[in-house]
Amino acid sequence: MKPDITNNEKDVNGFIFACTTSSQEECLSRMLFGSSRQYGALAVKVRKGDFLFLHNLDTDVLYGVFRAASDGKKDIVAEAWGGSYPYQVTVEALGDIVPLANATELFKHLNIKRSTILHINSVMRLCSFFRPYNTELKKWWATLLICKGKKDFILETVRNWELLGKAQKLTDVEEVPELQATTLWDFPRQSYGKTRKGDNKYAGVTPAELIWNLVWRYTEPGDLVVDPMCGSGTTLDVCKEEGRKAIGYDISPPKSRDDVIQTDARKIPLPDNCADLVFVDSPYGDNIKYNDHPQNIGNISSETQEFYDELEKVIKESHRILKPGKVLGWLIGDQWVKKRATPVGFLLYNKLTKYFETVDIICVARRNQSSNTGIWANRARRFNFYLRGFKYLFIMRKQLSGTSHVAEERKINWAFYERSRTASKNIG
Ligand SMILES: C[S@@+](CC[C@H](N)C(=O)[O-])C[C@H]1O[C@@H](n2cnc3c(N)ncnc32)[C@H](O)[C@@H]1O
Repeated sequence: MKPDITNNEKDVNGFIFACTTSSQEECLSRMLFGSSRQYGALAVKVRKGDFLFLHNLDTDVLYGVFRAASDGKKDIVAEAWGGSYPYQVTVEALGDIVPLANATELFKHLNIKRSTILHINSVMRLCSFFRPYNTELKKWWATLLICKGKKDFILETVRNWELLGKAQKLTDVEEVPELQATTLWDFPRQSYGKTRKGDNKYAGVTPAELIWNLVWRYTEPGDLVVDPMCGSGTTLDVCKEEGRKAIGYDISPPKSRDDVIQTDARKIPLPDNCADLVFVDSPYGDNIKYNDHPQNIGNISSETQEFYDELEKVIKESHRILKPGKVLGWLIGDQWVKKRATPVGFLLYNKLTKYFETVDIICVARRNQSSNTGIWANRARRFNFYLRGFKYLFIMRKQLSGTSHVAEERKINWAFYERSRTASKNIG
């Protein structure tokens, strides 16, 4: 294959795909790389011409260098690997396929993971490990140097030449979020990646990675996501980057955005059964002043029944617009104010179960709250109360037609394991 050098070469990215010894043969005979949902978000970001590497997890060998012959998308060859790796890209080898042993060690030195996207300088650094064994790659390298008139780029490249073989940390990289595996989610930052998602100055803004996790767990590229109370538009920004269609409403859209539609979430202007995911981060009561709009539910105290009755109207509308079998994610926190605790989450969950079946309940660590200060921590200890440390994310499913959302009774055959003697001693 002749390397296709274009003036956009500086924009190419690099991706690492994984295989096992049993799936490797199919990768190379089909010249197709694939991934499960776990790394699907990376696979669909591959663009034709990007550089790809294949890591055999069993032998710890890294094969390179490949270039993407298509954009990444779902089910290019639906039957490949029996359907286990549906997010795929077709590939071409750039010259001879070179195997590099001890890939994990190399990744450790370079400080990269499967979830890392390599930008051009990092791609070249990783390619430099293969270059001495691959004449085609040497030619590509030389052409690139001639193609690029820009002095800074050439200097950067020359520096990379000097670093050949010295595995130093790659910095021209981007991290893609990973799917959360447990029911405890903790995001240190509001946003991720190169572009801003939502506005971290917006009161009550949602962590973007939380929405990313719902989008990748419960939808496919091209699906429709609806956020009826979308505030600064975090959901819209995440969905745009992940190739989902998205509609965002708010009772008082921020002036900075023209894609948030002014609507009351209790009357969503969409037909029945049209959405693949609904996400709601509602007010938790009247603790935050969002706006002066008379229909703002955030003006109603969560100590009153009215608050839950109004949110129930949003629940009903979310249920109506969701396709059967699809998911609603609802983020909410409890309240403690003036010596009174209100279990807002439990009270809302009670309403949700009238319409939906429970998929799961996630505990989301609260960060960057205005009460996250030493003064408030001291007050909490002195006056014997607790600061709110988490929110609930209720993940609820609309039942398929003809089925009940109330879980059927069933018999579980639990496997019991005998506790080891030392373990029980330590606990006892
Ligand atoms: C916690 S904020 C949402 C934050 C948003 N997810 C973000 O990342 O910026 C709650 C939002 O609900 C909106 N809201 C309150 N009452 C509403 C209603 N009746 N209809 C639609 N939106 C409403 C508020 O204006 C506020 O923007």
